[in-house]
Amino acid sequence: MAKRLVVLPGDGIGIEIVAEAEKVIQCLKDNYALNITVESGLVGGSAYDATGTPLPEETLRLVKSADAILLGAVGGYQWEALDIAVRPEKGLLGLRKELELFANLRPAMLYEELAHASSLKPELVSNLNIMIVRELTGGIYFGQPRGIRQLDNAEREGFNTLVYKESEIERIAHVAFDIAGKRNKKLCSVDKANVLEATELWREIVTDIAQSYPDVELSHMYVDNAAMQLVREPKQFDVILTTNMFGDILSDCAAMLTGSIGMLASASMNANGQGMYEPIHGSAPDIAGQNKANPLATILSVAMMLRYSLAETALADKVELAVKKVLAKGLRTADIHTPDCQLLTTSEMGDAVVAALIEIN
Ligand code: IPM
Ligand code: MG
Repeated sequence: MAKRLVVLPGDGIGIEIVAEAEKVIQCLKDNYALNITVESGLVGGSAYDATGTPLPEETLRLVKSADAILLGAVGGYQWEALDIAVRPEKGLLGLRKELELFANLRPAMLYEELAHASSLKPELVSNLNIMIVRELTGGIYFGQPRGIRQLDNAEREGFNTLVYKESEIERIAHVAFDIAGKRNKKLCSVDKANVLEATELWREIVTDIAQSYPDVELSHMYVDNAAMQLVREPKQFDVILTTNMFGDILSDCAAMLTGSIGMLASASMNANGQGMYEPIHGSAPDIAGQNKANPLATILSVAMMLRYSLAETALADKVELAVKKVLAKGLRTADIHTPDCQLLTTSEMGDAVVAALIEIN
């Protein structure tokens, strides 16, 4: 039976990069017998403009029965002044929560052709391959109470709550240990247990769960040190397990080590294997609509989707190989361009990946 994919381009460059990923999916259908149907929906600012909410009921209905979701990006200047409850980001956070996509996998791996684009010396980043496992449906992003309140003395106070239940820590820890077991068997759990009780509990639970994974070497690191170690000696890490907010911050940092945030894919999974796949980067309103954005992170998200939700490992390998071939040919979008390479637009890059995919056949 055909699998069901829902694409949610969202806002800004999301629209352009998802169009290129769809070309790749069409190519897989035409040339490699991928059996999939593609529907699309609204999310983010564009959904707000059309329906008054960043996560319309219709979109929720579509995604709930989908096998996989491919998301572009949400957000843009024109929606920044809106009430926080209807801002584009709420659409994304709502999808994560409604589908219980608690496990966010953010690989940061370096393509050797792009080593020069890293802000670190090539020897510090060559062969870099880190997997960040970020908890995605709990922590301070969702904790109650939250808000902005008026104090007696006529001053206002903003407040959020960092909470983690044991069960939430356990399930994300199992995901991280499983992944580490299939890689280099090193797991570093990042917390702020010296200051925050919620992460003191985090450390305790992760340590307990380590008993069930004797072949994985567990270490713990405070988040400030982890940020420093990521830019000092990133290759010491294999898998990093961390909370929602620390994962948000550390994954941007790790992404930059690989040269461009425009290259990195991510997967957000729930307990049923349903997944939402998206590039790590945002909607880049400054270059939206200019056919300049790098579609490779979204195309690599398609590869992750094939691997993790559609059981199409061979096709996932092909898409990743096609991206490598395109880079090896010296084809680059503006974010990763150097004078010795050929500068491509967003759509030319999509076409180049499709051509490479056909060549591999
Ligand atoms: C991310 C983004 C989101 C987050 C925003 C857009 C809500 O930064 O996916 O990393 O903070 O999780
Ligand atoms: Mg982020």
